[in-house]
Amino acid sequence: SERTLVLVKPDGVSRGLVGEVISRIERKGLKLAALELRTVDRATAEQHYAEHDGKSFYNDLVEFITGGPLVAAVVEGPRAIAAFRQLAGGTDPVEKATPGTIRGDFGLEVQFNLVHGSDSPESAEREIKLWFPAL
Ligand code: GTP
Ligand code: MG
Repeated sequence: SERTLVLVKPDGVSRGLVGEVISRIERKGLKLAALELRTVDRATAEQHYAEHDGKSFYNDLVEFITGGPLVAAVVEGPRAIAAFRQLAGGTDPVEKATPGTIRGDFGLEVQFNLVHGSDSPESAEREIKLWFPAL
C-alpha cells in the first residue's frame, strides 16, 4: 500500500466540489488517512511548489493556492499515487484531461485545475511531511 498527498485547491472548494472529489477517491477504493480544511501560508505554498520556482506561472500559482481555504488529504491504497493522478486527469483540463476525470469534467483553465496529487513516491513523502508532519 502507498500514500499520496491530495489537495482540493481553493477553486475546488469555492465551487463546492469537495464532496465530488472525496466521493471519487472513495469510489475508486482508496482510503482517507488524513483530511483537513485549511488556509495555507506563503512559506508552505512555496515549499510545496518549489520545483516550479522561477517559472512564469509560479507567483500566480502561489497567490492562487494561498488565496482561500483548501482541503488537504493523505490518500492511501495500492498504487495510490498513480491511481489518484488517473482520477485527476492531465494538468490542462481541456488539452490533456479527458472527460471522466476530475479536471476533464470540471475544469477549464490550467491554473484552476481543481486538484493536486503527488507525482512520485519521493514527492509524496516530501509533501506528506510538509502538510501532515505528525503522520
Ligand atoms: P499539481 O498536482 O498541482 O502539481 O499539478 P500537475 O502535477 O498536474 O502539474 P505541474 O506540477 O506541472 O504544475 C503545478 C500546477 O501549476 C498545475 O496544477 C497548475 O495549477 C499550474 N500550472 C502548470 N502549468 C501552468 C501554466 O502553464 N500556466 C499556469 N497559469 N499554471 C500552470
Ligand atoms: Mg505537480
